[in-house]
Parts: sequence; C-alpha cells; structure tokens
Amino acid sequence: MQIIIVDNVQHVAENAADWIEELINKKPNAVLGLATGSTPIYLYQELVKKYKIGKLNFANTTSFNLDEYFGIDAHSIQSYRHFMNKNLFDHINIDKAKTFLPTCEQGENPRKQGLAYEAKIKHCGGIDLQILGIGANGHIGFNEPTSSLASRTRIKTLTKQTLKDNSRLFKENEFQPTLAMTMGIATILDAKYVLLMATGEHKAKAIKTMVTGAVSAICPASALQMHENVIVLLDKAAASELDNQEYYLWADKENHKISQQFGLFHKF
Ligand code: PGA
Repeated sequence: MQIIIVDNVQHVAENAADWIEELINKKPNAVLGLATGSTPIYLYQELVKKYKIGKLNFANTTSFNLDEYFGIDAHSIQSYRHFMNKNLFDHINIDKAKTFLPTCEQGENPRKQGLAYEAKIKHCGGIDLQILGIGANGHIGFNEPTSSLASRTRIKTLTKQTLKDNSRLFKENEFQPTLAMTMGIATILDAKYVLLMATGEHKAKAIKTMVTGAVSAICPASALQMHENVIVLLDKAAASELDNQEYYLWADKENHKISQQFGLFHKF
C-alpha cells in the first residue's frame, strides 16, 4: 500500500482530485468507481472546481458507484443517486446515462441485479480507479465485517453501527433502509487502482487494522493488502495509530520524485 499522510481534510481532497485529474487526462474514457459518505464530498468539490477551470473533462468517462440502498426510489433524497447528482454529477459534464449505481428497486430481484451490475462493469472494461472511504468498523462499500473476501455485488444487511453512523442523514421518524446493494470485496479488488481516503481520529483504529492487521473478513478493508495498487490517503488524525509513520512520509517524498518522471499511473 502506498500510504500518503497529509495535514488535513482539505489536503486529502486536493491530493485525491490530483490523482483523478491525472488519470482522466491520461485516459479520457476512464471508468471511475465512486463512493458516497462524508469523506468524498470534499473530493467532489475539488473535482467540480477543476472542471470549472477547464482542468478536467468528464465527457467520455463512465462511473460505477459502490452501493445504493435496497428498494429505495432513485428520486428519494436519501438515495445515493440523489447524493451523487447533488454533490458531483449535476455540476460536471459527465453523461448521466453513463453513471451507474447498483440499484434494486421494489419488485426487482437482488441476485439478478447484482449479476447485471458485475456484467456491466466488465462490459465497460473494468474500473480503472476505485475511490473508497472506510467505516469505523473497517467496512468498504457496505461490505460489513465478516463479508466474504470473494463477494460480488449483492444485497447486504447493514450493521447496527453503520445504521447509527448514517442515521445523521435521516430525519427523526424517517424510514432508514437496513439493506443495501453493494459491490463485493472481489469486485473492488478487480479495480486497476484503488484510492482509499480516511480522515479523523474515529478512523484511526480501522486504518491501523487495515494496513497492519491480519487479512481477515473481520476488517473487510484488510483485503486491500492483497491488491497491487492501493493508495491510502490519510489526514494526520486518521494516521495517528499507524506505526512507521516516518517511513511513509519519507517514501512519499521518494515516490513524488519517481512520479514526476513517470507519472502517477503506470498501467495506462
Ligand atoms: P464516511 O463513510 O465517509 O461518511 O465516514 C465512509 C464509509 O462508511 O465508507
């Protein structure tokens, strides 16, 4: 894993946006894997800024989101479709017909929907760069602890902790879905590059377990240790429980020299 530790939330967002800028400039028809949650909001603000000043053009890009609530209407303001439109898609020139979420609306069969989502990702050539947050419990997407490391897009029951963490997004007495469709861990591991962002002290323990714990379904993010190209972008608080911080800071300086010569991505 390439661990990058920066000062604060804003620097995490700016740094992540630079990776996406470089990818799209190198591969205009890149396939992006996108995430919802509070962490990527700042990244999306940076992407919108870059688009507005002409540094980014999304005209030929495709996107696949990690997850969506099960049985939710796409027009509901709680849907992740709404989140993505509001925070990103409405402000850039991406073709919304090429933005996909793993939906399963009322009456649809989750198994069939999951298989169709996997097939669509393959049909588009696979995900070039998957953006991830991480749950305080180590989840990625809605792959909660004990999810199979070989899982694919499917329906998943959310944990009490995740429901509590996300309850801030729902008004009192408003229905909060307890089920979601999510890309699986194997789906995420298929991406050519993965960029995981985490900020805040409440993520520090999950980050330590992900980076230096055993690869185990109890921390789904630890499966990323088995991926060839993972960038972990952290603010100081999220990195605070990591051993070897000095090494990561030094390695980042060295990597910077190499990427100035060869670029951030070598696979395209
Ligand atoms: P957050 O969620 O960005 O809202 O902290 C991350 C996640 O649960 O994956």
